[in-house]
Amino acid sequence: MSLLRAFIASDIPLEIKQAISSQTASLRKESGPAVRWVTPENIHLTLKFLGEVSASNLELLAQALRAECAQTTSFAVPVEGLGCFPNPRRPRILWIGLTAPPALNRLQHQVEAIAARLGYPPEDKPFSPHLTIGRVRERASPAELQSLRILLEQTTVASLGTFTIQEIHLYKSDLKPEGPVYTRLATARLEGKR
Ligand code: 2AM
Repeated sequence: MSLLRAFIASDIPLEIKQAISSQTASLRKESGPAVRWVTPENIHLTLKFLGEVSASNLELLAQALRAECAQTTSFAVPVEGLGCFPNPRRPRILWIGLTAPPALNRLQHQVEAIAARLGYPPEDKPFSPHLTIGRVRERASPAELQSLRILLEQTTVASLGTFTIQEIHLYKSDLKPEGPVYTRLATARLEGKR
């Protein structure tokens, strides 16, 4: 049975990606080789990482997501701030923050429930909505990490705008040496009436 690596996510509009690029330009320039930056086209809001999925489950997931989203109303999400996981002393994942409205938490919960019904285990951590913009390289030296910590402290990211989630997508992820390639497999539109 052929399996592929898949996840469920919302796209981010170009204007927000452009705002992210401009407000993080000096951080990206000055952080040197310590960080692998996410290319703007690959920035997304992950709702659920599924891991390896069979073709038959992909179809079931797509159907269930469409049925759920048909009842779900679109909503706005403000984008603001810069942070890192797991914490500022030990930056590994650099992210741009989202002010999650209750509707985003509900949508993620619905997506999680659909995935769980098909056997994909829930995350062990609570949903922490974010846009990953960079990943710190394993081989970053202590000196590079120290200058990255200082740069992160010095960088403030103001409001980057607000976008509306009107649809979510099931994506395939192919891991290539040059970086991941994401391909859209299915779309579920949020068609609920207010
Ligand atoms: P994140 O960077 O938005 O947190 C596609 O690979 C997306 O799935 C990534 O952007 C990442 O989301 C998430 N992801 C990848 N590998 C994962 C893993 N092993 N566990 C949980 N989420 C993962």
